[in-house]
Amino acid sequence: MEPRKITEGVFWVGAVDWDRKLFDSLIPLPDGTSYNAYLIKGSDKTALLDTVDPSKTETLLSNLRGVERIDYIVVHHAEQDHSGSLPAVLEKYGEAKIVCNQKCKEFLIDLLHLPENRIVTVADGEVLDLGGKTLEFIFTPWVHWPETTSTFLREDGILFSCDLFGSHLSFPGLYYDDEKKVCDASKRYYAEVMMPFRSTIKKHLERLSGFDIKTIAPSHGPLYKDPFCIMDSHRDWVSDRVSNTVLIPYATMHGSTELMVEHLAGGLYERGIKVERFNLAYADTGRITMALVDAATVVFGSPTVLGGAHPHVISAAFLINALRPKLRYSAIIGSLGWGGKMAEQVSANIGNLKAESLGTVLVKGRPRPDDLRKIDELAGLIASKHKESGII
Ligand code: FEO
Repeated sequence: MEPRKITEGVFWVGAVDWDRKLFDSLIPLPDGTSYNAYLIKGSDKTALLDTVDPSKTETLLSNLRGVERIDYIVVHHAEQDHSGSLPAVLEKYGEAKIVCNQKCKEFLIDLLHLPENRIVTVADGEVLDLGGKTLEFIFTPWVHWPETTSTFLREDGILFSCDLFGSHLSFPGLYYDDEKKVCDASKRYYAEVMMPFRSTIKKHLERLSGFDIKTIAPSHGPLYKDPFCIMDSHRDWVSDRVSNTVLIPYATMHGSTELMVEHLAGGLYERGIKVERFNLAYADTGRITMALVDAATVVFGSPTVLGGAHPHVISAAFLINALRPKLRYSAIIGSLGWGGKMAEQVSANIGNLKAESLGTVLVKGRPRPDDLRKIDELAGLIASKHKESGII
């Protein structure tokens, strides 16, 4: 891999991870990812912005092979996919000081056992002049961790936004032509880790709109020549708008719950409602979280197993609850053989959701015409709720 020139004195020196399949051991990465590190050379000083995942340390060091001196290593975020190579970089560049905020300093000491005397802390809005390259630090906490910072390079109008606006997409360049693909990859990342923090991100977007940003350089995925498109997408994701969509995550063992799901999906479709159904036995968790970004309603479908809900459904309910999506309505459908606490277990796992419960439809054995009528009634209730609240 070679450094990539962004503009005079500014280079991408990160690493592409084509083969990474999972993030956080949870979300599939169909297109790999990248860990973006940047080198900025002023007339007086040189700064490295972030490092890379520890698995790619050699790539970073190789990209820096022609760089004799690094004065500062700006650390936007202590998570190891960006900080993991710091020990190696600190060792190679003995004069380099880490520049970060106080919270980040504490994390770096805990996570990487870095020496305190190599770390200099900065305040929100503070600037660092490299000589014709002025770095302005903008604290953007709670993108998903509390210490995250962005940097605005004033002379070139480049916002180094860390995880914010990032996407999991590997490719051998700086900019990617297929805007929709980048936006989808960014939505996957947003949905997985940032969705619970949408009110904070909304404030960051407002603050960032006051900067004359010409280019966004995030810590994952391609850079953006046109910052407005990706910022507008984020504005939509963090807004209160929900779409006329019902998300149905479900498991099925002998087909009864699946029959109910199919009947419900058909009934919703007939009423003009979009359905995103996911068989949890093999669904891509990333696609589920993406659908959650603006879905209005969730209907969990589960058989009864071992006296309760299917473990896949409990796992999905737990994740959905943790992500605190905008969902307005919820319901539970499913089947049982002789009894159990399926619905109670699902309900117990979604306490964070501020969604109105539209009830439960439980069927003993295989659904009969009367049972399917109840499913129709649920589809009708969902449609009337969507109409009432202006979603349709
Ligand atoms: Fe890309 Fe929060 O680390």
